[in-house]
Amino acid sequence: MDATLTIIEPFVGQMGGSISALRAIMAECGWVDDHAIDTVAEQFNLSRAEVKGIVSFYSDFRVEPPPARLIQVCQAEACQARGAQRLITALELEAGITLDARDPTGTLELKSVHCLGLCAHGPAAWEGDTLYVGLSDTDAGALIGSTCEGYSIQDVGKLDVEPPEWLTDQERLIFRRMGNADPLDLEAYCEAGGFQYADLPSETILREIRESGLRGRGGAGFPASIKWDTVAAEPSQTKYLVCNADEGDSGTFADRLIMEQDPYLLLEGMALAARAVGASEGYIYLRSEYPRAALILREAISRWRACPELSQALSIELFIGAGAYICGEETSLLESLEGKRGLIRAKPPLPAKEGLMGQPTLVHNVLTLCSVPWIVRQGGASYASFGEGASTGTMPFQLSGNVRHGGIIEIPFGLPLRALIERYGGGTLSGRPIGAIQVGGPLGAYLLPEAFDTPLTYEAMQAIGAGIGHGGIVVFDDQVDLVERARAAFEFCAIESCGKCTPCRLGATRGEELLQAIQRDGVSEDRIRLLDDLCDVMERASLCQLGGMTPIPVRSALRPAIAAFESGNEVQGR
Ligand SMILES: Cc1cc2nc3c(=O)[nH]c(=O)nc-3n(C[C@H](O)[C@H](O)[C@H](O)COP(=O)(O)O)c2cc1C
Ligand code: SF4
Ligand code: FES
Repeated sequence: MDATLTIIEPFVGQMGGSISALRAIMAECGWVDDHAIDTVAEQFNLSRAEVKGIVSFYSDFRVEPPPARLIQVCQAEACQARGAQRLITALELEAGITLDARDPTGTLELKSVHCLGLCAHGPAAWEGDTLYVGLSDTDAGALIGSTCEGYSIQDVGKLDVEPPEWLTDQERLIFRRMGNADPLDLEAYCEAGGFQYADLPSETILREIRESGLRGRGGAGFPASIKWDTVAAEPSQTKYLVCNADEGDSGTFADRLIMEQDPYLLLEGMALAARAVGASEGYIYLRSEYPRAALILREAISRWRACPELSQALSIELFIGAGAYICGEETSLLESLEGKRGLIRAKPPLPAKEGLMGQPTLVHNVLTLCSVPWIVRQGGASYASFGEGASTGTMPFQLSGNVRHGGIIEIPFGLPLRALIERYGGGTLSGRPIGAIQVGGPLGAYLLPEAFDTPLTYEAMQAIGAGIGHGGIVVFDDQVDLVERARAAFEFCAIESCGKCTPCRLGATRGEELLQAIQRDGVSEDRIRLLDDLCDVMERASLCQLGGMTPIPVRSALRPAIAAFESGNEVQGR
């Protein structure tokens, strides 16, 4: 049989099979040639243009032979706060090529990547089966010369071992087993109370979720019970549950950690949610940048499947993405899971009514689903007793960037940002004063010192034009170049835009050009006006929040430069 056909045959008929087949071709051959495109088109009943469209959408796919060595270097915010740019410049000098280029002999490529989920240990890089953390410019020679010490994907979990004193002041409901248990020991998980409530009536589970006040942890903070009640009320025979494990936000790594350290918690959360809403098929959409999480989840699902008393009511499949930040947005994710380009769908219809394959679908973030077992065991009211106001429960904040101690800090909502940094972070790594803190991922606001006493609740953050997002907190010291951060926000949007709507597709590129002009020639009244107009259009007219929220980091990061210009004290480049 044709070798390409042999590679892709196992994926024919599977959900998202075309993408999984292309991933398998990449793994086997290193690139997707014309024959592979023809074969995928034929097997998945697609046109060649459709397959080429898929290949060009995802950054993991390539249409020419790969270099002998591919080094991926994180250039996202948390690594930048710890010196990633100096590392990148040193790597470029050492290798004699620029980032995202290949050397003339075709043997080495330096590829930029936005976040490997190793933010607390950055700057980070990845080559083959090895992950590198805590890099600095002095490591460039060793990294290019292949003598740098890294962690194999099997061992990288050692990085996550936390000092005991770190844990004393936390309220770990979701992360309570992290570091204390063998992640893959299903028997121990069940003996500790796991999977004991899987037979509860649907109505009881729905009631506890309602009482808990749980809000989605993926970013928007939407009340979970509204989605659960909607899906449960749909009459359809086929309903899906989708776990969003795309965790693309830079400075966030809680999903990765919980999947690697306590995978059965996620499976139990999914089993309870599926039972509550009447779904019988579940999918975990995992980003491809998390190879260790993939290993562990695959094994956990296989052991769980081997226990029919636990798994008979729900099938769970692991789907690996192919490198596209936008596929974290739920409608883009559903398109991708159906094997297509991850173009955003207009809402309505909401996924809860018409989601995967047009059927009612409950889409939740990993942390939301991992909160469910505790809520069902201890009761929604107990969960709601943590936190403040409508920000109930705990949040695993993820602290990274220019701090001495980064990591997971699971505490009830409500602690002021400054207290969290002082109590847990131990000050900046550089020893300099904190200059800015970005809260809520790459689309989150850059907060300046006057906002550091804001309590970490959805409401308080919203009141100052910021958000909690997925709980990422990235600290920068007073050397931060905020104009460059604003430029990088536009650049990120331009790179990751799905291209469906004009304000984002063109706006981000024009915005980056405008910021480059400001970096070169300084702030001017015309430029401020143009930037304001552009941000207004993006906010109001973008189809989804990638374009709609990019003005948040841009406007907040530019505040000091604009204030300095308006008061006549302009400082170049800050
Ligand atoms: C540009 C963009 C990227 C997103 N990325 C993620 C992501 O990586 N993980 C996630 O859970 N939600 C992400 N979301 C939010 C999802 O669209 C959706 O709200 C979420 O998966 C719902 O789950 P929740 O209710 O548990 O938060 C993203 C949203 C946008 C607009
Ligand atoms: S805002 Fe950007 S990512 Fe969202 S639909 Fe428009 S082009 Fe696509
Ligand atoms: S690993 Fe670099 S920002 Fe997350």
